[in-house]
This record gives sequence, structure tokens and C-alpha cells, in this order.
Amino acid sequence: MAELPKVEALSEAEAAEELKRLAQVLAEADTAYHTHDAPEISDAEYDALKARNAEIEARFPHLKRADSPSEQVGAAPSEAFAKVTHAVRMMSLANAFDDEEITEFDARIRRYLGLADDAPLTYTAEPKIDGLSLSLRYEAGRLVQAATRGDGAMGENVTANARTIDDIPERLDDAPDVLEVRGEVYMSHADFEALNARQAEKADKQFANPRNAAAGSLRQLDPAITARRPLRFFAYAWGEVSAPLAESQMGAINRLSDMGFQTNPLTELCDGPAEMLAQYARIEQMRSELGYDIDGVVYKVDDLALQHRLGYRSTTPRWAIAHKFPAELAWTRLEAIDIQVGRTGALSPVARLHPVTVGGVVVSNATLHNEDYIAGRDAKGNPIRDGKDIRVDDWVQVYRAGDVIPKVADVDLSKRPEDAEPYQFPQTCPECGSEAIREEGDAVRRCTGGLICPAQAVEKLKHFVSRAAFDIEGLGAKQVEQFYRDGWIKEPADIFTLEDRFGSGMKQLKNREGWGEKSAKNLFQAIDKKRKIPFGRLLFALGIRHVGEQASLLIARFYGDWDEFLAAMDAAAECEGPEWERLLGIDGVGTVMARSLVTAFAQNEERASIDRLTAHLTVEAAARPRTEGSPVAGKTVVFTGTLEKMTRAEAKARAEALGAKVSGSVSAKTDLVVAGPGAGSKAKKAAELGVETIDEDGWLRLIGDA
Ligand code: IVH
Repeated sequence: MAELPKVEALSEAEAAEELKRLAQVLAEADTAYHTHDAPEISDAEYDALKARNAEIEARFPHLKRADSPSEQVGAAPSEAFAKVTHAVRMMSLANAFDDEEITEFDARIRRYLGLADDAPLTYTAEPKIDGLSLSLRYEAGRLVQAATRGDGAMGENVTANARTIDDIPERLDDAPDVLEVRGEVYMSHADFEALNARQAEKADKQFANPRNAAAGSLRQLDPAITARRPLRFFAYAWGEVSAPLAESQMGAINRLSDMGFQTNPLTELCDGPAEMLAQYARIEQMRSELGYDIDGVVYKVDDLALQHRLGYRSTTPRWAIAHKFPAELAWTRLEAIDIQVGRTGALSPVARLHPVTVGGVVVSNATLHNEDYIAGRDAKGNPIRDGKDIRVDDWVQVYRAGDVIPKVADVDLSKRPEDAEPYQFPQTCPECGSEAIREEGDAVRRCTGGLICPAQAVEKLKHFVSRAAFDIEGLGAKQVEQFYRDGWIKEPADIFTLEDRFGSGMKQLKNREGWGEKSAKNLFQAIDKKRKIPFGRLLFALGIRHVGEQASLLIARFYGDWDEFLAAMDAAAECEGPEWERLLGIDGVGTVMARSLVTAFAQNEERASIDRLTAHLTVEAAARPRTEGSPVAGKTVVFTGTLEKMTRAEAKARAEALGAKVSGSVSAKTDLVVAGPGAGSKAKKAAELGVETIDEDGWLRLIGDA
């Protein structure tokens, strides 16, 4: 190839001319290669030209042509989705669901072959990939056709699309003259998530799972679309071959791997059912970490001569079986939709299902997320499940992955009863009747009943006694529910008057299920122990929306003292003014959290309830770090710009350890700004306010680290 001028040296006019030439040359090369099967330039040359084209386009994006080669993949498929008759039928696999069926599989094969029980018989065991099967026909080492399975006898021609898949070689070295390679097209979890995210951005269709995404991507009429979909391919079988690949299954797989195919690295040889089951268990254990979906393990007789003797039933080989994992998907009837009300008033729809086994567990409840999900929309109003809504009496698909709460994933419209009505999401709280509203930007509808709502009250109490909050021994979720039902505890403050009110009535308590005299006494002692409580824990225990455990500690450390904090909340009640700014200045506190916090303390009933509680408590000031001799103790410091000798997190931790308060924004209360290169508005504001500003080295000198 003649030396071409360097891309950096091209003028704009030369670049435009060169892009035009490349578009022409590459289009010709494509036609020669794909349509006439007669390549005119080498693969390396082709790749170099394509790379050059991309390089010029990157430098001059506005010159990119409508017929740019970077948007073309192969030639237009003249024969897309034409029917293809498979030279050798594409078989499917018999399924097994438990260990006995595997022992039986081995016994059956031995009987068929007349092998003694103790004669050696080796199998391969490999993951069953959850994608779609594809047959690739190579002639003289060149890919000439790719076809889907179809009905096994006849599939669809997807050659142009298959050519865009990186894992599928165009040419094979050292291959038989005719070779049909079979395997699975699939999409990795990461690529699937990214694809769905891109789709969402374009307000385009979401895929339900990686398998659907892979199938939808492979069966695109426009191969340019397939090319943008990150499909992968594992080879695990073959169809017509003009010369045998090897003498064993494993040998054949290794041969395919040598030819440039991806073969599954978890493929192992197993001597008999015990080893097969052990490999099954290993693969099942790795399942969640593989990064792609598998739905079982496939065992195959390793010796190809024996495979040949065993042959086929009508649609499945006798020499192989798929040992399926328990299904993680199942279809069942949606019997009812219940609404649960959470601690923050969130109305959460729960699917009551006709019990069904999903992934080996009986499931009768599943989450329906929120009202949009039921209606078939996501938070942005884009359709999910192709816009299908979910109705009571529908057949729904239940999905369970790992330990997560089962979800309702899909609905079968063909089974929808004629009289099924769209689900009306309640506009009032089913527990207290208060209005339930959706604030802008909130996917969730919430009960406005606050403390008068019994559901919210109980959930708040459960949270209050939870481990990271008050953590009162002997007073867990179950006991709280019981006390609430009996009217003994209605709000957190009631916990601390329990003994006064019912101590003499201990008899009443001890006669209750689960309570004896001793446990009642222990409970009162456990409650007494928590009359002294750290500020951070108390704040978290209040269960204010958006104010989690970490944030509570952060806020506690910032204000130090409970009364000082209360005064600050009062001063910030209107969500404006210097105290509001100061609150927002805490690194880690955003507007949403700040608003929620301030509102909780400004709301009369809620505040009265908090005050009733704290009347029984001694709130320990937040543990301030040891700060004797610290030059920055009690000072409010802001870091801005790039720090070069430490990370922002490190700087913050170090400053806090020295008793400084680290704030995210500059105000009149700021004592010191540490400005690195690139410091912008904060440094400017500091200058305007006359706040002392130093650089990173100055900071290190100040704290004695330089
Ligand atoms: S062997 C003649 N091996 O499972 C035997 N199939 O349920 C051909 N599959 O249609 C199949 N992983 O699409 C084989 N490692 C594997 C597989 C596998 C997935 C698919 C394949 C087949 C289906 C049968």
C-alpha cells in the first residue's frame, strides 16, 4: 500500500477529498467481499483504510459523510431473513431437573451401548448459555452463511448481521472445506444494562432480559443496528463437516477454539454422574458472577464414535442432556394487588400471587414497585413491557434473582380475562384514609397522614428500635407491633413511659404470649439503658425521609450539640437564610435532604412528638475529635479546586479529625478556604467575604503535615 499523507497534516479540503475517496474504495471492497465473494484487498489493508477514515472523521467531525464507511457494515443484505434449510438438522436437548435424572441418563446410555456399569465413560459438562442458537457455515475457510435455528430444519438467514459480531471469524485457518459451526449468540449483563440505558436515553424500547436483547439485535433488518449491539458468540457444536474435527467432543471444542472461536472456559471432562453433578454444583455457584445468563449445564458423551452410535431421537440427541437450573422465572395468576404503607408514607403495591415455585422457592408475593410500573411506564413516562399494564386476574411472569425480592416482570395479554379492569391506584391511604399525593419528581405516591396514619406509625416505631437506631434489647419489630396493636405504644416517647404506665401492671405484660416476669423486667432495664443516646443515633432513629445513618452522623458531628441543632433547624425553617445555607454547606447534605430535615422539625405535630421523646432522654453531644492544640478546631473549612497531595476525602477526614467542620460552600461563617488550582466561584466568594484563603501547601503547613 502506498504511503498516505499523515492525518494531522491534512488541510480541511484535503480531508474532505480523502473521506470521499475512502468511502468509495471501502464500498467497492465491501461489495467485492460480501456480495461477490471475491475480495480485492487484504483484511489488513481494509482495516487500515477503515481506521484512517475514522481518524479523519474524529479530527473533522463536520466532514463526516452521509455514506460514511464507519456507519456501514458489510454490504446490504440482499437475502436478509430468507429461509435457509440446514444441511444437518439443528437439534434441541432433552431436559433434566434433578440428580436422579442424570444417573438415569448415564444408565440409559450404558444400556444402549451395552456397557458394564463399571466401564469407563466420559462426558463433557459445560454451561448452557441462555441466548439463541446460530449455525455458521464456512466453505473453504470463509463464512458464507449464518442461520438461526428456526424449527430446526429451516432457519432464517442472518449472515449480514452475524458478520458484525466480533466473536464470529470471517475466515478460518486450518478448517475442513465445509464446516458448520454451531453455538449461542448472547449478550453480557453489562452490555445489556448499557444497551437499555442507551435505549432509555433515546426513549426507545427497553429489553426485558439479555436473551431478548440478543434475539432482537440479531434479527434486525438493518445490519448497521446489529453492529451497534454488543453481541457475543460461544461455539459448542457443529453441523455438516467435510472431515471430522476430532475424535472427542472436547477435542472438537479445542479445535474450534484454535480456529478462533470463543468456547466456554468452564467446559470440563467428567468421569460419570458423580463428577457431572459436582461440576453442575460448581457452575451453579459461579452463575451469578459469570456476567452472562446461563440456565443449566449440558452433559455430552465425549467419545464422538459413541455419540454416533447413540444417534438421535426425533428432535434430541441420545448422547446429550441439559440439566436445568431451577427456573427463576415462572408464570402465575395475579390474585390481588395490595398496598403497603411504609414509614415515610410510601404506598407500595404488592402482588398477591397464586403460589408458584421460582428458583426453587415458593413465591406468593412480589413487588410491583409503584403505580407507573403497574401502568406500564417508567419514571420518565417511557413504555416498559411494551406499555402493557398489569391487572388483577392477569397471568404474570414472576422473576427472582439471588436474594432479591421477587418482581413481576411481564404479563401475558392472551390470557387476560375479558372483564379485567385497569388497576386504579388508590388516591387515599388505605390505612388511614388521608389523601395520598405524588410530589413532582417522586415516583412514589405518599400518604399525607403523618403520625395519624397507623401504618406509618408502626413502621416508624420499628425503625426507631432497629439496630442502627435505639437497638433496645427485647424490643424488636414483633414486640413493637404487639404493643402498638394493644395501644401501649403509639409513638417513640411512649417506650420511655412504658414502665411508669404499666410497670405495676407487669402482670398484664407477663401474661402475654412471649412474655414472662423476667423478660418484662429485662425489657424495662433495656429501655432504661437507652435513655442516654448519642445525637447521631437519635437523629437516625427519627426516621426522617432521606436522612440515613451516615447523614445523621455527619449532621450530628457538624452541630455537635442537640440543642444547638434544634435552634439551627428553627432558624432554617423557611428553607432560606444563613442557617439554611450553613446546613446546605455540610459536605454530603443536599437540598432534598436538607428540606426534608427542616420540614420534619418545623411540622408542629412531628416536632411535638420529637420533643415529647427527648424529654425522656439525655442526648450525648456528637463525639468531637480530640482537638487540643489543633489550629483548626471549631473552624469551618472549605476545600475547593484540585488538591494534588491528597484526595478530597482524605483532606476532609484529616480536617475533621482535627476538630474542623468541613463545609461544601463558602459563607460568612467560613473561617478558612483551602483553594487548589482551578478553584472558581468559591475562591471568588471567599475573597468577596474577606475569608482567609490558603493553598494546599499552606494548609499542610498549618496542620503541621508539611
Ligand atoms: S448442544 C445437538 N450445548 O440449548 C445438540 N446447546 O435446549 C446441540 N444451548 O438449541 C445443542 N448452551 O440453543 C448445546 N453448551 C450448549 C448449549 C446449548 C445453550 C442451547 C441451544 C439448544 C438449546 C437446547
